Amino acid sequence: MKILVTGGNGFIGHTLVRQLLNDGNQVKVIDIKPVKFTHPKLEFVKKSVLDDIRWEMRDCDMVYHLAAELGVINSDKKPLNTLAVNIDGTVNVFRCALGTGVKKIVYTSSSEVYGEPREVPIKEDSQKSPVSIYGVSKLTAEMYAYGYVKEYGMDINPIRLFNVYGPGQGFEWVVPIFIQKALNTEAPLVFGDGSQIRCFTNIADVIGGMETIRKKGAKGEAYNIANTEPITMRELAELIVKVSGKNLKPKIVGFGSETRAKEREIMKRIPSIEKLKALGWKPKVRIEEGIELTYNWYKENLGKEELFYG
Ligand SMILES: NC(=O)c1ccc[n+]([C@@H]2O[C@H](COP(=O)([O-])OP(=O)(O)OC[C@H]3O[C@@H](n4cnc5c(N)ncnc54)[C@H](O)[C@@H]3O)[C@@H](O)[C@H]2O)c1
Repeated sequence: MKILVTGGNGFIGHTLVRQLLNDGNQVKVIDIKPVKFTHPKLEFVKKSVLDDIRWEMRDCDMVYHLAAELGVINSDKKPLNTLAVNIDGTVNVFRCALGTGVKKIVYTSSSEVYGEPREVPIKEDSQKSPVSIYGVSKLTAEMYAYGYVKEYGMDINPIRLFNVYGPGQGFEWVVPIFIQKALNTEAPLVFGDGSQIRCFTNIADVIGGMETIRKKGAKGEAYNIANTEPITMRELAELIVKVSGKNLKPKIVGFGSETRAKEREIMKRIPSIEKLKALGWKPKVRIEEGIELTYNWYKENLGKEELFYG
């Protein structure tokens, strides 16, 4: 099997690429930044998803489309680039795949498409009310996916990932930020009132879910990939402090300019994963275990630039 991964040099992408190679697949990566390792079955193409990539797709069986401008704050700062990469870039991936050997596209969407849910757990067909440019871009690209499924009979699965964490994630995200604080013996700063609920999902489970969908996902169906152990942001900070063994107390700093405005904060994000469970997948890494593994990884590797992504 030859698999194309866009964004294969990112946090999730590089972990996925390593897994695909370990499983004996041929992998081609398209990214604007070069992959940081070599492998006899790995090919790297330095291109943007906004470029003509039909030639790169001609000999591939399927595509994992991950390349994106990421995150709520970043997308607010770069709205046009977000719309270009996340919407035009995604449509370009669908468009270029037409008439090639590509039989399936798995597109990484986000829990941000749901906004503040009206019901929990959030099912795939729950209301979508994104509150960020990032969420809107991800949802818009999903709508194009359904259009391509209907219009051309393409097999595309939008997959909605929920707060992914694990080794190698860059320092713009809350788990590495809290870990770095704890490693520096500083109190983690918790924005808002700390009661925001999330379900943090370990990267190993995310890759397992993605591979299940690649192999068994029904044509045109969206799937949530998530852990379902709710944790508040305050509890997450406390857990990381506990794992560090240091005498620190997380600081609740309220809503301010460094984070989302209160009106745009998602207070309760708890997914349903029944749809993906029906394909035979379930998360294996409990939050306590995943955070401890991740903390120890950062402790060992902090400062090794080449091991960090995103
Ligand atoms: N990390 C999370 O918690 C999370 C949650 C929900 C959804 N997602 C989605 O998963 C995917 C991967 O996320 P990640 O955390 O690995 O992000 P990341 O930022 O680490 O990786 C994104 C990759 O895309 C590449 N890229 C950016 N613009 C590009 C372009 N124009 N052409 C080609 N490559 C380009 C970057 O160089 C980078 O290697 C994204 O689509 C993201 O929206 C991530």
